[in-house]
Amino acid sequence: LSKELQAMLDAHELLRKFYHHLLVNTKEGQHALEYLLNRGFTQESIDKFQIGYSLNSWDFVYKFLTKRDFSPEWMEKAGLIIKRERDGTYFDRFRDRIMFPIFDRHGNTIAFSGRSLGPDEPKYLNSPETAIFNKSKILYNYHLAKPSIKKLQYAILFEGFADVIAADRAGVENGIATMGTALTDEHIALLRQNVQTITICYDSDKAGIEAAYRAGNHLQEAGFQIKVAMMTDGLDPDEYIQKNGTDKFRNEVIGASLTWMAFKFLYFRRGKNLQLEGDQLAYIEQIIKEISKLDKAVERDHYLRQLASEFSLSLEALKQQQKQIYFADK
Ligand code: CTP
Ligand code: MN
Ligand code: MN
Ligand code: MN
Ligand code: MN
Repeated sequence: LSKELQAMLDAHELLRKFYHHLLVNTKEGQHALEYLLNRGFTQESIDKFQIGYSLNSWDFVYKFLTKRDFSPEWMEKAGLIIKRERDGTYFDRFRDRIMFPIFDRHGNTIAFSGRSLGPDEPKYLNSPETAIFNKSKILYNYHLAKPSIKKLQYAILFEGFADVIAADRAGVENGIATMGTALTDEHIALLRQNVQTITICYDSDKAGIEAAYRAGNHLQEAGFQIKVAMMTDGLDPDEYIQKNGTDKFRNEVIGASLTWMAFKFLYFRRGKNLQLEGDQLAYIEQIIKEISKLDKAVERDHYLRQLASEFSLSLEALKQQQKQIYFADK
């Protein structure tokens, strides 16, 4: 490792510890700690995930690092401070935010994501891409989740950090999340080294359901087995756990995960009124298309029967239509 890269890592390590200290031990961090506790974060998860607080200051980090002989040029390249165009002076990137350290697979702190405490946008401010941080290759919590992922032989993919942390509180330790981006091929390659089954547990709002559909297709093309866990009332996992508790989350969300096909049955149903003939026919056609993609004849038969019984259709007619679609695709 070059001297400069090592300095970037060292600076992140120092700041992670200091941000955490500010959150848990100081008056300056008290409002941030209260915010987290009000949201249901526990002292235990604050420690486990090394959550911190960045002071409401323009130059705290700048002074903290330069006093310790870190070069401002490299700390700027590390994404920790930003250079002013006008006079070449520097200011802190993260100010008055809850700080979530981002770890690489060896447990090095390589970046931060800072959540605003109020209406400040963006809600989550991430470190930029740097020589030590590439967000299309990093999955939040992968370093801690890996033993559990291997043991349980599946990983749970969440949308946000708060969801991963709330799930962990519920004893669900195989959770990971992307950094506010779609799942990339690099993420998928990383996962493939350790696991074949992924449970997608994105927010159950419209955006989350659409994103789950996209991520599921992407993962399925890559050869994974997919399940989808959904919350009621459009909640996200963190909100669900706050409202309904950890037991319900384990049993009625994760424990009741849908198969990928069952999810698609629901997905294509949304926004349709199946009492209307047109909507019903469109729905049946979409589902038959999905059924045609299945490799196993037994599975195709199973879902065709399900469809036939739900809409009181003849299985023969459905099979006929499915074969037409199947051969049209070949
Ligand atoms: N995100 C972001 N910037 C935003 C909104 C979202 O980077 N302005 C990313 C974050 O990584 C966030 C994820 O997208 O965790 C999911 O977004 P959202 O559901 O809006 O946030 P939550 O994770 O629910 O955050 P919170 O519970 O803290 O409000
Ligand atoms: Mn791809
Ligand atoms: Mn969301
Ligand atoms: Mn959310
Ligand atoms: Mn949330």
